[in-house]
Amino acid sequence: MSISHDEYLNLVEKLQQLNKEYYINNASSVSDAQYDQWYQQIKDYETTHPLLMVEDSPTQRVGSVPAKGFQQHQHKEPLLSLSNAFTTEDIQKFLDRITKNTNQTDFSMSVEPKIDGCAVSIIYTNGQLELAATRGNGNVGEIITHNIHTISMLPKTIPFTQPLEVRGEVYIKISNFEKIKENFANPRNAASGALRQLDPEVTKQRHLDIFIYGSSTSSHPSHIKTIAWLKSLGFPVIDAVEVPGSTTAINNRIADILNQKDMYDFVIDGAVVKLNNIALQNALGTTSKAPKWAVAYKFPEEEVTTKLENVEFQVGRTGIITPVAQVTPVNVSGATVSRATLHNFDEIKRLNVHIGDTITIKRAGEVIPKIVGVAAKATHRTPIIPPDTCPSCNQQSIRQIEGQIAYQCINPNCPAQIKERIKHFCSKNAMDIDGLGDAIVDQLLKEGRIQNIADLYTLTRKDIINLDRFGEKSTDNLLAAIQTSKTKPFSNILFALGIPFIGEVSASIIAEHYPTFEQLQHATEDELIAIEQVGPKMANALVTHLSSKHYQHIVKGLIESGIDPTPPKKPSSQQLTGKTFVITGTLSQPRSAIETLIKDNGGKVVKSVSKSLNVLVVGESAGSKYDKAQQLNTAGANIQIISETELLALIHPQ
Ligand code: IVH
Repeated sequence: MSISHDEYLNLVEKLQQLNKEYYINNASSVSDAQYDQWYQQIKDYETTHPLLMVEDSPTQRVGSVPAKGFQQHQHKEPLLSLSNAFTTEDIQKFLDRITKNTNQTDFSMSVEPKIDGCAVSIIYTNGQLELAATRGNGNVGEIITHNIHTISMLPKTIPFTQPLEVRGEVYIKISNFEKIKENFANPRNAASGALRQLDPEVTKQRHLDIFIYGSSTSSHPSHIKTIAWLKSLGFPVIDAVEVPGSTTAINNRIADILNQKDMYDFVIDGAVVKLNNIALQNALGTTSKAPKWAVAYKFPEEEVTTKLENVEFQVGRTGIITPVAQVTPVNVSGATVSRATLHNFDEIKRLNVHIGDTITIKRAGEVIPKIVGVAAKATHRTPIIPPDTCPSCNQQSIRQIEGQIAYQCINPNCPAQIKERIKHFCSKNAMDIDGLGDAIVDQLLKEGRIQNIADLYTLTRKDIINLDRFGEKSTDNLLAAIQTSKTKPFSNILFALGIPFIGEVSASIIAEHYPTFEQLQHATEDELIAIEQVGPKMANALVTHLSSKHYQHIVKGLIESGIDPTPPKKPSSQQLTGKTFVITGTLSQPRSAIETLIKDNGGKVVKSVSKSLNVLVVGESAGSKYDKAQQLNTAGANIQIISETELLALIHPQ
């Protein structure tokens, strides 16, 4: 269902608010599913109306929040994203804007492949590679120098001794990705995962490559000259071609890139069109998300036809059965595809697809493409029938879910479910145990070394070092990751348990109210529903799962291995309860100490000044936040503006 522009703007505002809420307070007032639905509506609208997209749309957030476990690096110049273009008209409008804002009609452009990988910034000092960082949130990234060193194509010393920063895209060749693709959605995800490894040995095995596409410190007058100079220093550079600033010339070069893209051993997902002259680039400047002198022309998603040979059934973490299509191998966007997603049985019904049909599949950056329709019905069509025995545990444990065309294996000891639950437990946003991939979990299960998530904490050095592909260092790393995970907050542990309906957001809300296993195990459904964002389905799933024999055994195991989060410290007073605070300017103690003081006395510290803020604590040389609070007060807000001494008086009234 498409939405109007006003509805689009409303949704953008809503999601901005929710993002803020989530990143500042770690909580959201809507369900994950609701968030995803709104996000998708925004995305759909932007795909059909690219020119009406607002700059600060939540879909345009640059990168992600910096990860933990890496030191952070503040980029001198932010690593921005690129605005998108989808049509010739978009390119024409982009050129018109350049003309309008620079008063130039005669300028040249660079048109180059857009590599689908991860952006990095690399700094050289005295001719030596000194530091490399990911984009992170655009301003602050993670330091990943140790992993960048594994890229053999990248020079570690260069014949140029002045400070130099280069930017580029780290990628995995399609041929290298083919060897590891079981574990990743696409080469970009695999590259991003490899860059974020704590152990460079693991990164090295993934064989990363890089193309450099720019430098923020070059003094050359044009982009093309900068690229030629970087090449002369030994960098693997992007294939930048200079063309006149006309739509025809740009389109021709884009068409060449599109026609040739499948000949390369890396994923090209579009073309980047850049104004060549650096002085003009600087004159145009940037928005907070993207430069005004460049756009990314996105290639349409490729569709091909092939034959549906068979359908196999996979069992997920909660026992849900997912049909996966096996198709006659076919080349889509440079990769050989032999499997395609069918999502669920509703989708099979909707598409009216049968085994033997010629089907259309589409690949949208993901390695496993999806079936979008039947191109030609087969003469002898075999219907796709849900299995009556579980393909993993071979039990007659398949049940139809009430009111849905969906099926579930209800055997809690089904091996596929156990494996998926363990993988979910270890995943990044759950317990973040790096190094326990698919193959390793398989081996540990096969050898009977683990049967459930709690058993992970009983693994010994001997258990791990004997596994395939494990050495001294990777064993130590895995053991350390397992140990470290014990200190995860209760919200992560709760999410990691993999109880149906308990997503990341709901887990953190529930953990705020019930911060220990002990307390949560005593909560009733009614008490849980009383929490504003907890619905009856969530409450029921929590209570039934936590009181089941299976989960009681697991929780006991987790507690015995030392996972028993203590409730957060109670505020030492309630003097500031219910009030939000922003701190600005220089105070007599470090800001973190003042923040702790406020939190210890029941207050909440937020980052930005808004009309709903209660108190602004002002130190010396306070700047824009102070001005903003005053403006808001003039406009009718009621923000109390106080000094550090006044804050102390609020906490310890006379
Ligand atoms: S130039 C200020 N050139 O695509 C940003 N980016 O979707 C300048 N990318 O963030 C970027 N190939 O990570 C540029 N030839 C290319 C590129 C390229 C891939 C990435 C880059 C950027 C993202 C935007």
